[in-house]
Amino acid sequence: MFTNQKGMFEIVAKDVMGRIGKIETPHGKIETPALMPVINPNMEFIEPSKLVKIGAEIVITNSYIIYRNRRLREIALKKGIHKLLNVNIPVMTDSGSYQLMIYGDVEVSNREIIEFQKRIGSDIVVPLDIPTPPDAYYETAKRDLEETIKREREAVEICNGNFLLAIPLQGSTHWDLRRYSAKKASEIGGDLYAIGGIVPLMDSYRFDDAVKAVLEAKKYLPPSKPVHLFGVGHPMVFAMFVALGCDLFDSAAYALYAKDDRYLTPYGTEKLKDLQYFPCSCKICSDYTPEELRRIDKKEREVLIAEHNLIISFEEIRRVKQAIKQNELFELVEMRIRSHPYLVKAWRIVKHYFDLLEKYDPSAKQKFFYLGIESLMRPAIKRHHKKVLNVEIEKDEIVISSDLGVRADYYLKPVFGVVPAEMLEIYPAGHAEMPDNIEREAYEMAVEALKIFIEKNKKNGKKIKIILNDDWRKYLSEYEI
Ligand code: GUN
Ligand code: ZN
Repeated sequence: MFTNQKGMFEIVAKDVMGRIGKIETPHGKIETPALMPVINPNMEFIEPSKLVKIGAEIVITNSYIIYRNRRLREIALKKGIHKLLNVNIPVMTDSGSYQLMIYGDVEVSNREIIEFQKRIGSDIVVPLDIPTPPDAYYETAKRDLEETIKREREAVEICNGNFLLAIPLQGSTHWDLRRYSAKKASEIGGDLYAIGGIVPLMDSYRFDDAVKAVLEAKKYLPPSKPVHLFGVGHPMVFAMFVALGCDLFDSAAYALYAKDDRYLTPYGTEKLKDLQYFPCSCKICSDYTPEELRRIDKKEREVLIAEHNLIISFEEIRRVKQAIKQNELFELVEMRIRSHPYLVKAWRIVKHYFDLLEKYDPSAKQKFFYLGIESLMRPAIKRHHKKVLNVEIEKDEIVISSDLGVRADYYLKPVFGVVPAEMLEIYPAGHAEMPDNIEREAYEMAVEALKIFIEKNKKNGKKIKIILNDDWRKYLSEYEI
């Protein structure tokens, strides 16, 4: 392998479970989160120089397609994969597993396709994993996974050379198998992990199961290595999956969607036939109106839509990175999930993985915008509740007020509960912006924390005086004063 050495993946910024990192490859460093456009080796679609200009730092292609085609194979073996594709940036090569999933069979062995990827100079090599579809019989999923694991061990054995090795994770929708796959993968080694078998979930809008597959894996994957999410290329979900710790995405979506006149946006897909106006100002969308684009010849139109699709996909990746830099990834995800009810459903699943979120999410931030009840999952809130319980109190009587205009030791705030006067100006409670007609869940969460606070302090012999306004009274009638 290119490196088992330290520093192959360098993390430079973090937010939620996401990170900005640098991966060192034989063809230079790339910054993550990264989107790898899929290049079809049979047919140039958007020229590579344009891909780079739009923002690609790395591309992905399918080594099995090259292996099976005599002309392509000879060029690749003679000149290398970079010359074949006419790129000088890193190239990841997939193994034919996708064909295995679609056709149920491939005419190559794991060893052969790995050796081939090595010989053509791939930067990131993928073994021939078996992508078991969702809802497969447990025994089938387990058998497939054991075979995948065997092939990964073989891959590590074969691998010596100037490239990185990706270890795919499978397990269908059996969560214990997803965990097992991650555990085994981290034992096996490799340079990065690639979560597979996700495409059918995404195609059927089962975002919640895709989220589970990622989080069950993240429980056991070492945080020091990059994670690729195979086949996920819709910009609408980048923020969410980056927030869950995915670093690499690949997109055939930009081209596949363009083929049937589907126009990508960061909040969903539009059919070109339905558009009167473009919600975008990229080169394509400024040069044409939807009506003009519809009148263009199919082949040419396809390239133009693909170009727009790619532009907004990279734009979204940059937006996600900026959100990480500013520790505003929660806010971005909570906006993005509102594009589709099943995304809301998927994100709500994350609260069942609170320990994981808490483990990764940085505690030092500046901003807390409450954007709906999903904001209640943020670790900053629970951390605040805990912190307040640990504040030493010297006085015998504690005054708590829901009214900021009254002198008190503690103030009440929806979501956060009790906030010591000296914490009124600091993150998170002091920096939190929320609507004053906030949901009842936000009050209930605060009341829960308040009750624990009262209990603890009463036990310690403190007298507690609470001054409540009407907003609070209905939630706290038993404490009315
Ligand atoms: N492309 C999309 N899904 C997968 C997968 O599960 N494995 C591999 N190797 N490639 C994929
Ligand atoms: Zn556009």
